[in-house]
Amino acid sequence: MTTPISVDVALRTLGEELARGLDLIAAAVSVAELEAAEVAALGRKSRFSSVQRALGSLTEEDRRKVGQRTNEVRNAFRAALAARRAELDAGREARLLEADRIDVTLPGRRLRPGSLHPLTIVQYEIVDIFTRMGYRVVEGPEVETEWYNFDALNFASDHPARTLMDTIYLDVPGESGLLLRTHTSPMQIRTMEAQPPPVHVVVPGRVYRNEEITAKNMPVFHQVEGLAVDEGIAFSDLKGTVETFYRALLGPEREVRLTPSFFPFVEPGAQVDVSCFMCGGKGCRTCAFSGWIETMGAGMVHPKVLQNVGYDPERYTGFAFGGGYDRLAMIRFGIPDIRLLWESDVRFLEQFQAAG
Ligand code: PHE
Repeated sequence: MTTPISVDVALRTLGEELARGLDLIAAAVSVAELEAAEVAALGRKSRFSSVQRALGSLTEEDRRKVGQRTNEVRNAFRAALAARRAELDAGREARLLEADRIDVTLPGRRLRPGSLHPLTIVQYEIVDIFTRMGYRVVEGPEVETEWYNFDALNFASDHPARTLMDTIYLDVPGESGLLLRTHTSPMQIRTMEAQPPPVHVVVPGRVYRNEEITAKNMPVFHQVEGLAVDEGIAFSDLKGTVETFYRALLGPEREVRLTPSFFPFVEPGAQVDVSCFMCGGKGCRTCAFSGWIETMGAGMVHPKVLQNVGYDPERYTGFAFGGGYDRLAMIRFGIPDIRLLWESDVRFLEQFQAAG
C-alpha cells in the first residue's frame, strides 16, 4: 500500500533522508553499525523506500524529477557505504596488526649454550681413547650385590673393604647384601658372564665409599674400569695399554710406572703411576714433589675370577685396570675443591671446555 505524496514532500523527504543517512553512515564505527545504517537509509521500511514506492502516484513529469532524485540519493548512499566500509576494513586490519605487533627494537634474550661438566669432559676423553683402541663402553648398576662387588672378585669373607667402615650397605626390606658399588670392578664379572672371550671393555661410572666429605674426598666419586681377556694376553700388554692411554690423555711425553700392589682379583697386581703432567716429572705441589701421580690399580685377571665366570684359566688370560678420574679432572682444570664438582653452580660449570 502506498500513500500518495506531492513532489515537494517527496523531494524534501529525500533531502532529509540523504542528510540523515549520510550522518548514520559516517557515524558507524563497526561493520554491524554500518549494516544498520544501510537498512535505515535504504531498507524496505526506510522513508527513502516509501518515496520510491509512491512514485507511481505521481504524474509522469513529476515522476521523472523525483525518480532522478531517488537515483542520486541511492547512489550517494551506496558510495558513502562503500567508502565507509573500506575505512572500517582498513581500521580493523590496522588494529589487528597493532595487536599482533612484535617489538623487534629490543635485543632478544640469548639462549646460553650449555657446557659439559668437567667430569663428563674427562670421561668422554677417556672412553674415546679406549674406543679408538677397540674397546666397547659398558655401564653397570650402582646398586650391587656383595657377590659382584666382592665375592666373585675373590675378596676373602673377612676382607676389611667389606666393613661398614668402607662400604655403604643398603637396607632394603626383603633383600640382603645390597650395597652401593665401591668400585667399577663388578662389571668385570657382569661382562664376562654375559659373553665368551675375547673381551675388551671400559666401564666409566659412579662408585661409593663411606668417606667423610672434605675438599679432597666425597663418598661418591668416579672410576673407569678396563678389562681385556683373550688367549695369550700378557703383563706387557697391560703396560703398553696404560702407557698408550696416558700418553693420549695427558701428552706424549708421559711416562708410566707400574709398582707391585695387591688386589684380590688380580695376580700379579700393580699400582699405575704416571709422570706428573703439571711439572713433567720434576716435582711440584700437585705430585707432592715426587714427580709421579698415582692413577689406578691394575693387574692380570686372577684365575679364580676367570673360573667364577666360567672362563677356562688354562686357555685365557687377561688384564684389568681401574682408577678414579675426579682427581684427574681437578688437576687438569685447576679445581681446588672436589665439592665444587657437586654444587651444580653454573658460574663454575660454564668455565670448562673440552680440549681441541
Ligand atoms: N677396583 C680397584 C679399586 O677400586 C682398582 C683395580 C681395578 C685394581 C682393576 C686392579 C684391577 O681400587
